[in-house]
Amino acid sequence: MDKKLKKIFPEAKDFLPIHGTDYVEFYVGNAKQAAHFYKTAFGFQSLAYSGLETGDTTKTSYVLSQEKIRIVLTTPMSGNTEIEEHITKHGDGVKIIALWVDDAKKAWEETTKRGAKSYERPNEISDNNGSVIRSGIHTYGDTVHLFIERKNFNGIFLPGFKQWDSEYNPEPVGLKYIDHMVGNVGWNEMNIWEEFYRDVMGFANLITFDDKDISTQYTALMSKVMTNGNGRIKFPINEPAEGAKKSQIEEYLEFYNGPGCQHIAIATDDIINTVKEMKLRGVEFLHVPKSYYDTVFDRVGKIDEEITKIRDLSILVDRDEEGYLLQIFTKPVEDRPTLFFEIIQRKGAQSFGKGNFKALFEAIELEQEKRGTLI
Ligand code: FE2
Repeated sequence: MDKKLKKIFPEAKDFLPIHGTDYVEFYVGNAKQAAHFYKTAFGFQSLAYSGLETGDTTKTSYVLSQEKIRIVLTTPMSGNTEIEEHITKHGDGVKIIALWVDDAKKAWEETTKRGAKSYERPNEISDNNGSVIRSGIHTYGDTVHLFIERKNFNGIFLPGFKQWDSEYNPEPVGLKYIDHMVGNVGWNEMNIWEEFYRDVMGFANLITFDDKDISTQYTALMSKVMTNGNGRIKFPINEPAEGAKKSQIEEYLEFYNGPGCQHIAIATDDIINTVKEMKLRGVEFLHVPKSYYDTVFDRVGKIDEEITKIRDLSILVDRDEEGYLLQIFTKPVEDRPTLFFEIIQRKGAQSFGKGNFKALFEAIELEQEKRGTLI
């Protein structure tokens, strides 16, 4: 366990050591087109493929990577499958948050013993490049955690996948690793999932935001951030709170038909160039009113970046005791107002941009207004 976290969060348990996020798998209606979008707009690189050509007649998967991030886009090849049902119910969305562990059998045994519902018993999958042990448990909604043990595997991704050589290779945009992944859960369910991550997964509560921290004139929500022992996995859990109008969390739950992954925050070392490039490639970001910049630097103080660039790109800034951070949020990346992305650059700060919550949620409310869901 990381020394600093051990000092701050002695309650984080070591029974489930996790090296990091192994991959995130999305179930989508058209994996080929989704892969094109994430390559073009987000700068992901072609990594691996599985489908008819590799002998899989049930589904097609494209694996994309950028630095430490791996995403998988999977579509079913016929109806009446779990994947098709997932897409019909939720639209495109995150199905699997896979975690890289040393011992997938033990991870499954320890978590199911503590109350997790099994999704997949430990099993070995192999090809010419070696073998992987995989197991899985359910988390909120229809979302799943898979445990991946890959120390005896040296292939491109997982057994059964072949290298994906493409002639279309847009440049990366500087995305480095997944900083955190947020789950939206139903009314009064945040504490249930806090307990799940604490008791079943051995995580600790890093920080809690109540509805006073996260509210505007119209809407409110609450959030608890859960972290594993080494701090590489951070899962904030949001639930709606009472407000004058329908919150973004309620809107999500309605369109996603239940709990699910709300946003994936990806770290960059150079947010100005990353965001500039993503905008050029067609990614739509939320915009805060220009008046945000009239006062933000009174609160945040001096930063290294050019303020005009930050303002022109509508990047948000916040500071805590350890430093500052820069962040920006995309609009939802599918037709339903569900999953979106955050791009974040940390300059010391380990927090989540609390000082920006109000401006950010007002920007989201403007979008809700356009969609007719701010009622
Ligand atoms: Fe976030």
